[in-house]
Amino acid sequence: MSESAFGMIDRFRLDGKVSLVTGASRGLGLAIAEGLAGAGSDLVINGRNRTTLDEVAESIRRGTGRKVLPVEGDVGDSDSVARLVSKVLSEWGRIDILVNNAGINVRADSATYRVEDWDRVTGVNLKAAFFLTQACGRAMIERSRGGKVINILSLASSIGLPAIAAYAAAKGGLMQVTKTLAVEWAPYHIQVNGIGPGFFRTSLTEPVQKDHRNNWVMRRIPAKRWGEPIDLAGAAIYLASPASDYVTGQVLYVDGGFLCGSDWRTGD
Ligand SMILES: NC(=O)c1ccc[n+]([C@@H]2O[C@H](COP(=O)([O-])OP(=O)(O)OC[C@H]3O[C@@H](n4cnc5c(N)ncnc54)[C@H](OP(=O)(O)O)[C@@H]3O)[C@@H](O)[C@H]2O)c1
Repeated sequence: MSESAFGMIDRFRLDGKVSLVTGASRGLGLAIAEGLAGAGSDLVINGRNRTTLDEVAESIRRGTGRKVLPVEGDVGDSDSVARLVSKVLSEWGRIDILVNNAGINVRADSATYRVEDWDRVTGVNLKAAFFLTQACGRAMIERSRGGKVINILSLASSIGLPAIAAYAAAKGGLMQVTKTLAVEWAPYHIQVNGIGPGFFRTSLTEPVQKDHRNNWVMRRIPAKRWGEPIDLAGAAIYLASPASDYVTGQVLYVDGGFLCGSDWRTGD
């Protein structure tokens, strides 16, 4: 007889886990970090600004009673990534859940896109996420504890949107990295999944919220509203938790129906 699912809700809990969330000082990363801590996980939060991280850490400790370790550093810099991982392992001895959330975008027409912007955008969104995952995955494999990796992707991982070629290349590439690692690391009980946010109200999308593109966006979202950061937290908790132990290599889009809408191309 198969196991009963009566107690299934408990498998969404993260008690006793250690999660590392990059770019956790604001926006989607902050909501994800708050959600994971609320579900019981201790946290390592990363961003480039120490003062902001300290404030966030204190607010999460107060709100959830969890332990929170702020570690500042630019994930685009390989020395910072090495420092980040060694700090987590020396303080906590393990990493159970990694959320690659830190991301940037530079919007410009492809005809004039600058090499330095391409390198910066792909460096943070793709290369940094891969090498941080490599370091954390190695620790998960060595300790034989299994683990969860969640990559924050984008609608641009799978559809074309104008003036973001480097960002789309990075997020599309990170989706393929997600699938590759899911296959490679499944034998180690490490699940690697992606979350594809639609249009969320954060500082990253502020320029789009404020000009004519806001109408373009609103016409194409079936839910008829922008996502708020809290809308993403449930997907992160699910993919971080034992409830998703048989789910790997997937992208969970959280987009108010954007991708399934028949009129996203034209808005008609
Ligand atoms: N908002 C959306 O609609 C949307 C849609 C699809 C995908 N996404 C993705 O979701 C993720 C979060 O986006 P968001 O909208 O929350 O952006 P955001 O509000 O700009 O926040 C970005 C976070 O990343 C940190 N960060 C940026 N560069 C970093 C670096 N090199 N090293 C370490 N931390 C860095 C920032 O902190 P510091 O500046 O202090 O370092 C901040 O905490 C990104 O990967 C983004 O591509 C967002």
